[in-house]
Amino acid sequence: MTARLTRTLSRWSPTPDRLGGALLEILREGQRRGFLGPGPVEHTFDHALGFAGAADAPGRAVDLGSGAGVPGLVLALAWPESLWSLVDASARRCAFLGEAIVALGLDARVDVVEARAEVVGRDPGHRGGYDLVVARGFGPPAAVAECAAPLLRLGGAVVVSDPPGGDASRWPAAGLAVLGLEPDGMVRAGAAYQRLRQVELCGERYPRRSGVPAKRPLFRST
Ligand SMILES: C[S@@+](CC[C@H](N)C(=O)[O-])C[C@H]1O[C@@H](n2cnc3c(N)ncnc32)[C@H](O)[C@@H]1O
Repeated sequence: MTARLTRTLSRWSPTPDRLGGALLEILREGQRRGFLGPGPVEHTFDHALGFAGAADAPGRAVDLGSGAGVPGLVLALAWPESLWSLVDASARRCAFLGEAIVALGLDARVDVVEARAEVVGRDPGHRGGYDLVVARGFGPPAAVAECAAPLLRLGGAVVVSDPPGGDASRWPAAGLAVLGLEPDGMVRAGAAYQRLRQVELCGERYPRRSGVPAKRPLFRST
């Protein structure tokens, strides 16, 4: 168990070691099932927790392409007042996430949404309803931005992990402006986390049909 994990959980759980152990075991199981990349899950936990250093605690947040629950599950534990939607198109990953939230006692404030993000962005129950969108390994910048923007309220934020080192030129202001987004700085804390801000509500034409944001990106990253 990492000291950081215990510290994070002890802010709200009377049994941080037990809860932290359960979380790490869930991530290991996710890895065994192929829902999470290789490497020590403690590092994955640290990387996920890094998102919290790049955003204010949200009321309502969404994790796009949550996979085995990264970073959504970690952030739901770190921000005990927050409500979450973990969105993933894969039925197997969503079944796994459903079991994970029950095991962690998060089922009262975390929902699993089995759907394409492009479909969720057109659902009135989700559109414009979030303070924060997070994404890790979801797709290229233009696809992340086009799937995230429709979900955000005015003033809401996106935090997305960037490849090691980070490169702000992957997030061009002119391309983001089409979606009502603007770059809001990059946080470097071990890893790199790009921040975007929803400065105008996203236009009705976005997101485009499933698959189109990745196939015909609104902007190219240099
Ligand atoms: C590379 S994995 C990353 C998973 C997790 N965020 C992580 O960091 O380990 C990408 C995930 O996004 C999901 N995904 C990809 N495109 C999607 C879309 N358009 N809508 C919903 N889920 C999507 C996949 O099913 C997969 O679980």
